[in-house]
Amino acid sequence: MATADQIKALIRSHASENSEQFYTTALQVAAHEARLGHGALAHDIKGLVDKARKEHRPVVLQFPKELQGFVLSEEPSVPRSALVVESALGERVDRIVREHRQTEKLKSHGLMPRRRIMAVGPPGTGKTMTAHVLAHELRIPLHTIQVDRIVTKFMGETAAKLRRVFDQMYDIPGVYLFDEFDAIGGARSLDNDVGEMRRVLNAFLQFIEKDTSDSIVFCATNSPQLLDEALFRRYDDVFHFALPGEAERKRLIQNVLGTSVPEKLDWDVLLAKSHDLSQAEIDLACRDALKEAILSGEERVEHAVLERMFDERRSRISSVG
Ligand SMILES: Nc1ncnc2c1ncn2[C@@H]1O[C@H](COP(=O)(O)OP(=O)(O)O)[C@@H](O)[C@H]1O
Ligand SMILES: [Mg+2]
Repeated sequence: MATADQIKALIRSHASENSEQFYTTALQVAAHEARLGHGALAHDIKGLVDKARKEHRPVVLQFPKELQGFVLSEEPSVPRSALVVESALGERVDRIVREHRQTEKLKSHGLMPRRRIMAVGPPGTGKTMTAHVLAHELRIPLHTIQVDRIVTKFMGETAAKLRRVFDQMYDIPGVYLFDEFDAIGGARSLDNDVGEMRRVLNAFLQFIEKDTSDSIVFCATNSPQLLDEALFRRYDDVFHFALPGEAERKRLIQNVLGTSVPEKLDWDVLLAKSHDLSQAEIDLACRDALKEAILSGEERVEHAVLERMFDERRSRISSVG
């Protein structure tokens, strides 16, 4: 039997919702039982604690001090259904979710779920969003690494910080998003010292190779030309994002406008006017049209307004590019 002190400690930690203290005490009970020769009971208690720890992990844990300010943690609520990508890419996103939902089953067969993803493609096509979707669908936090802040002139320091991030992946499960990855992966170094930058990249590749946590490493970049073959090989999958085709544009417009879509949709016109726009731009144009409808007390978006919003977005691109 557990000692009186252990029982009291269990109750106290339960009452104060200090689960870590609770588990520690429970393990002390197990050790106590083992010493009394109750090996089977000790084993059972330890098994229960391990299982409970796994299932009731607090969702977002604290990163160590030296990483605070470099990592942003959140619990996204972006469902998979909001993500509009071509079906082949969608299936690959779904595959990650499916594999991670059944990690234990795969592991029992000596297999690992795919967990190192490189996302490549033009701005506004859903790379960052996909990291949010994965975190939401798997009900794990999203940890966004502020790559631009981690990468400093001091390469040794940069590599040390990256190592600390990878160290955390075991203890703080989640989707680790390295957005604007080319700041690490490309030659776009702050002082143009390509050799030094290469060393940071090599360090990153070593970390990613050694990492055997269950966390997902999700790197995203707009500039694939900066990243080389050797790098792509380290990933379990490379997601190529692209501007939306007709089917995707249609789905996106319907998704965003919902029941406020214009009564009669002239798809030929809308598809022509949304041509060359990214998902992000189409999303914004639709929201602008929604706002107009709301402000003028209309239940539905007017077709002409929607067209105008697309025109506005398109003229913005042509004036920039
Ligand atoms: N594929 C997509 N499907 C649905 N919405 C999208 C998509 N891509 C972008 N968006 C919208 O645009 C916003 C910005 O996109 P983001 O994921 O940051 O693009 P990227 O990281 O590729 O530059 C998203 O939050 C979302 O509202
Ligand atoms: Mg992005």
